[in-house]
Amino acid sequence: MLLPVNDDPYVYPHTEILINAFNERNEDRLRQIEADYTGFRIRELMDSPIEGDYDLAHLCRLHQYIFQDIFDWAGQIRVINIEKAESVLGGLSVEYSDIADIEKHLNAALAHLNEIGWANLNIDEKAKEFAQSLAEIWKAHPFREGNTRTIVTFCCDFADRHGVPLDRELFSDNSAYVRTALVAASATFHDLGDRSNQEYLVRIVKDAIEHGTR
Ligand SMILES: Nc1ncnc2c1ncn2[C@@H]1O[C@H](COP(=O)(O)OP(=O)(O)OP(=O)(O)O)[C@@H](O)[C@H]1O
Ligand SMILES: [Mg+2]
Repeated sequence: MLLPVNDDPYVYPHTEILINAFNERNEDRLRQIEADYTGFRIRELMDSPIEGDYDLAHLCRLHQYIFQDIFDWAGQIRVINIEKAESVLGGLSVEYSDIADIEKHLNAALAHLNEIGWANLNIDEKAKEFAQSLAEIWKAHPFREGNTRTIVTFCCDFADRHGVPLDRELFSDNSAYVRTALVAASATFHDLGDRSNQEYLVRIVKDAIEHGTR
């Protein structure tokens, strides 16, 4: 679980369990409920995606849809800073956006996504550009929980709309790999500089493009 930097209004007092619509206080059971409901909502979206301009409001609507059954703050940008120690970073956390910068960082990242000139790119360039945008959006981590599911779905919808369908099951079936690849691609730090490596993310994105069907 992502750890809050300050007091966390999202959890039951003296626990790390997110306040949820089922009032479920057991972490494993909540994880299962979350997986069931969000899985159902994400499958629904494959047939009828949320329409929008691939801007911040659109991303929030998508999170709202996916998490509507579980969290009453679904679709709302987080109000606390978060960190998570990563073994692949030797215990450091990705520098997720400070709450004061989330909108600014996301607007810039979404502008980059929208600038991708899909039609003129070969598959390696498509994979590189897409992975870069995915990682940039993900590094902002705008929601208290559920960023990876929302952002992967959002970016796949975006690519689909530009005639580049991706094999989404590759991402969901390899979610641990995807998360580690996103961490590696996002490893830029104020004090330690750029330690990022996009190779792993680009590799799975390229596979997903190669296996995507319409
Ligand atoms: N693209 C995806 N599609 C469907 N399920 C996913 C996807 N990515 C992750 N999951 C599942 O979501 C659950 C939570 O994963 P994880 O905590 O890494 O992501 P998140 O909650 O969406 O984002 P974060 O915790 O980074 O805000 C896991 O059970 C994982 O298997
Ligand atoms: Mg999570």
